[in-house]
Amino acid sequence: MDRLFFEIPDIKRKNDALDYIKEHIQYGSDINGSGGLDRYTDDYEGWLDKLEKDYKTVPNEERVPARTFFLVREGDGRIVGMINIRLALNERLRKFGGHIGFGIRPTERGKGYNKINLYLALKVCRENGIHEVLMDADLDNPASWKTMEAFGGVRIRQYYDDEFAHCEVVDYTIDVDSALADHAAEYEPYV
Ligand SMILES: CC(C)(COP(=O)(O)OP(=O)(O)OC[C@H]1O[C@@H](n2cnc3c(N)ncnc32)[C@H](O)[C@@H]1OP(=O)(O)O)[C@@H](O)C(=O)NCCC(=O)NCCS
Repeated sequence: MDRLFFEIPDIKRKNDALDYIKEHIQYGSDINGSGGLDRYTDDYEGWLDKLEKDYKTVPNEERVPARTFFLVREGDGRIVGMINIRLALNERLRKFGGHIGFGIRPTERGKGYNKINLYLALKVCRENGIHEVLMDADLDNPASWKTMEAFGGVRIRQYYDDEFAHCEVVDYTIDVDSALADHAAEYEPYV
């Protein structure tokens, strides 16, 4: 498999980033982990400013500090995925969303890339002192919750969410230190 790395979004990636979003629209796909880029397609520079603010936010009930990364394939520099990592949780995120939202562009799915995406994100969590990650997924999105289970994610709850997702949702916790230790041999060759 290809090697992948996280890149902090900058102005040089404007066209690539917009193409990433456009592809989702063409395929009629959900967009997750983009840090809201899909709402800023007319204002990429404004989105970069928003990311700076997101990172520096002091946690409150509305907003928490977060980082957004492009997942880039080393071989050709293509943005294959994105991820949004919340560095703190408020009540709302505890209920829905958790620490991490992720996505892989439609033409690059099913290649194991999202597992690398989450592996790299767990490293970011560890660097930021987060030792237990809370995540959720729609039950009918196995590609999402199987990614969590690939890192020892434990399903702690399944329920019908009538407030945000309006479907069956599953909540997971991942022990960050164990996940990284147990899966280093498998994933380090690709990062
Ligand atoms: C969810 C998503 C990120 C998965 O990305 P991906 O790169 O295709 O996932 P991977 O190839 O790394 O596979 C992860 C796991 O899901 C499984 N999987 C992948 N596609 C699947 C599918 N269509 N159906 C069932 N399982 C699937 C893989 O087999 C793997 O599990 P395994 O380790 O048990 O084999 C991608 O489908 C996506 O971007 N979807 C739209 C956005 C979204 O739903 N994000 C999640 C909500 S935050």
